[in-house]
Amino acid sequence: MLEDLARLGEQAMQKLEQVAELDELDNWRQQFTGKKGALTMLLRGIGKLPRELRPEAGQVANEIRQSLDEAYEIASARIRQAALANNLASGAIDVHLPGRPQSVGHVHLLNRTLREVYDIFGRMGFQVFRSREVEDDETNFQMLNIPPHHPARDMWSTFYMTNPRVLLRTHTSPGQIHAMREYNPEPFRVILPGKTYRYEQVTMRSEQTFTQVEGLAIGHNITMADLKGVLENFARQLFGQERKMRFRASYFPFTEPGAEADIDCMLCNGKGCPVCKYTGWLEILGSGMVHPVVLRNGGYDPDEYSGFAFGMGIERICMLKNGITDIRYFFSGDVRFLQQF
Ligand code: PHE
Repeated sequence: MLEDLARLGEQAMQKLEQVAELDELDNWRQQFTGKKGALTMLLRGIGKLPRELRPEAGQVANEIRQSLDEAYEIASARIRQAALANNLASGAIDVHLPGRPQSVGHVHLLNRTLREVYDIFGRMGFQVFRSREVEDDETNFQMLNIPPHHPARDMWSTFYMTNPRVLLRTHTSPGQIHAMREYNPEPFRVILPGKTYRYEQVTMRSEQTFTQVEGLAIGHNITMADLKGVLENFARQLFGQERKMRFRASYFPFTEPGAEADIDCMLCNGKGCPVCKYTGWLEILGSGMVHPVVLRNGGYDPDEYSGFAFGMGIERICMLKNGITDIRYFFSGDVRFLQQF
């Protein structure tokens, strides 16, 4: 038995050396170490040996099996290597071909714009304050000096939940209340970015879901001049140092006084074109001094504190900056749009 095993081992090794192809290698395995291979057959015979001979035979058989398995792995690697080298030599693989470009994603244009806005305000000392998207009527409206049934509610078409006290915020302004209650009684400066929702017809100029950045500064002796300085600085950094800015009196229930800010149209330099509707000006945001009622709702005494606030639609800002004509592109997911930026 032991001799048989040794002979078989030698024979298998010799044959393996001559194997040059993968299918030959497979045949070899079937012939020797496979389920019906010669080695397996011999092993079965061990049971018929006299009891005292069995242990040694078993041990030798196992050793042979192990070395054949190792030799098999080595031969397999050798054959694959040779095949690859052969392919290269015969030109079946052209290593000079340029690789296929993999398209890697990039930051969405809207998020890039947001980050620019964060940077600009960050340098002026404004921190980012996150606020909720699902709001209650109190914070979205009443705390901002907009009572139930007040006609000013027409300014914000609202998505209400089944429970009409709960709604999707129509602007980032309710964040003013949250921020004031958080910082009270310290002076502070924050911007509040995030998604806002309005129950409106979708057109090239308005989406139901869009993005706003709110700003709020509360402290002692804050005046309209601070508001104008901050916003003008912002507009120049975002749209170019030569930009002019103008403020028009406007109405928001939560500001007094309120103002809308325009920049001179950077497409026609204020001469008049279709984008600025031949006015030479582009409206970019709403703003104002925080209304005393709102200050009080945030826990600040309006006799001691004052503040300014502003709010802008980031899609609109981004459209103006990049010459985009339809707001619906932003969330269409169309890569032909995204790849341009
Ligand atoms: N919340 C207002 C809007 O969505 C914008 C605004 C914010 C105006 C802060 C004044 C002050 O239209």
